Amino acid sequence: MNQINPALERILVSEEEISQRVIELADQISEDFKDVKRLYIVGILKGAFIFMADLTRKLSIPHVVDFMALSSYGKSTESGAVRILMDLREPIENQHVLIVEDIVDTGQTLQYLNRILMGRNPASLHTCALVRKVGQSVNIPVDYLGFDIPDVWVVGYGLDYADKFRTLPYVAELKRDSF
Ligand code: IMP
Ligand code: MG
Repeated sequence: MNQINPALERILVSEEEISQRVIELADQISEDFKDVKRLYIVGILKGAFIFMADLTRKLSIPHVVDFMALSSYGKSTESGAVRILMDLREPIENQHVLIVEDIVDTGQTLQYLNRILMGRNPASLHTCALVRKVGQSVNIPVDYLGFDIPDVWVVGYGLDYADKFRTLPYVAELKRDSF
């Protein structure tokens, strides 16, 4: 594709790079959890829905999917305090849990989720994110990471700006004058 939306600066991660990396991550996760009865996979709405769908369909181990919706207070391009809008359907006590996030920016959301879910006594808790921006203020490890990207606003493959651009097949930088 030669033309991209004029609101976009450039493609940072192409469709091909994403699909290749999703297979690698799914293989790694399938290997690491091959001995667990089932993996309880928690997708964080809305941003993770596409990544979650692609990743889980490449897994070769037993798993179930569930979702949480979070909201951060503040403007659309700022991270802030977090609250739960929709919680998990089941208790996760003694379950092996994998959080699937679209993006780690400051790391606040993942840190908050970790704290909340650890409090429910899972058998294990791991994290997976498609992309991570450089220079988080919170140092939170990501067990399964797709790509490191520069500290710019990105959209596509689930990621939005004001709920737009989520279904682009790639991850692209939004032009500064678009927000
Ligand atoms: P954090 O808490 O600062 O790590 O921010 C995480 C959340 O902010 C993500 O789950 C996204 O919803 C949102 N976010 C941060 N940066 C971006 C971006 O570049 N594009 C779209 N959403 C973003
Ligand atoms: Mg999000």
